[in-house]
Amino acid sequence: MRKKVSIVGAGNVGSTAAHWIMAKELADVVLIDVVEGVPQGKALDLLQALPIEKSDVHITGANDYAATANSDIVIITAGLARKPGMSRDDLLNTNFKIMATVIERVVAYSPESILIVVSNPLDAMVQAAYRLSGFNRGRVLGMAGVLDAGRFRSFIAAELDVSVENVNSFILGGHGDTMVPLVRYTTVAGIPITELLPKERIDAMVQRTRNGGAEIVKQLKSGSAYYAPSAAAVEMAEAILKDKKKILPCAAYLEGEYGIHGYCIGVPCKLGAAGLEQIIEIKLTDEEDAALKRSAAAVKELCDIIGV
Ligand code: NAI
Ligand code: 2OP
Repeated sequence: MRKKVSIVGAGNVGSTAAHWIMAKELADVVLIDVVEGVPQGKALDLLQALPIEKSDVHITGANDYAATANSDIVIITAGLARKPGMSRDDLLNTNFKIMATVIERVVAYSPESILIVVSNPLDAMVQAAYRLSGFNRGRVLGMAGVLDAGRFRSFIAAELDVSVENVNSFILGGHGDTMVPLVRYTTVAGIPITELLPKERIDAMVQRTRNGGAEIVKQLKSGSAYYAPSAAAVEMAEAILKDKKKILPCAAYLEGEYGIHGYCIGVPCKLGAAGLEQIIEIKLTDEEDAALKRSAAAVKELCDIIGV
């Protein structure tokens, strides 16, 4: 039997995630949204692409969560997106209220599911999903690090004119200005980038990565990035659906790892059939550790405001 992925929020990120899942033939998909007709219309459009894409999955759209019953994975993209001049944190209160209604229904219909949260501000929304769902931490993950690392990797590949497949990178911390790219673990065909690029070029790409979302918001004028974010969420879902034991940077609830207790933040996670199967801890330098703690403090500030 095919696996089932429900996607809450049939907007840009949600519907594009459905598209990637269909194109990769990963699972049946249910798109859910509060707006009547939007999930149904987008699902029908994707359904008609199935024969062309040679993909044997089912895609449906609904406003009622009954259609999502017994999902293996629920990707949550419901909420407002940024407009120019807005930070991710400006979305906090509105998206928290939306998250609360979404989680209540998801838990009722798919009590065994694994959650992949995308809505912003990311780390605080993952924390909200973790607290409100009552799921164990293995079943509540947030997508940000895969996207941020993808941005960094794409800039490095372009700068060095090499295949994107050659570039590996790791990003810790929250999704925002306080993210912590680990330059010393960023490699091109196994070679540290510090051997290949001068510090000022690396610093410029780190800064562009931190600003990656805002750069796109500024260009689009309304709405935010969605191709890379949805691809990143689907890479996480694929690792779980195929029990790949793949190590990806994801937001997860920490219970003392990296010296952080009781908050969700981006760390290297091994993803398999059970969701988060292991958090990989590495020894940080003093500078990296201080940057991660600053990032965690920023997440805590938002969590305190919404009381999660
Ligand atoms: P969008 O505006 O295109 O789609 C959001 C959808 O959520 C809309 O269709 C809306 O009707 C729906 N929605 C609102 N309330 C709902 C509810 N209670 N139940 C179900 N659906 C509901 O926005 P987009 O671009 O898809 O972004 C979605 C979220 O993901 C935003 O919060 C955005 O900031 C965040 N995001 C996070 C990224 C990350 O790296 N974690 C990257 C990109 C976006
Ligand atoms: C991004 O980084 C808006 O968080 C979203 O593109």
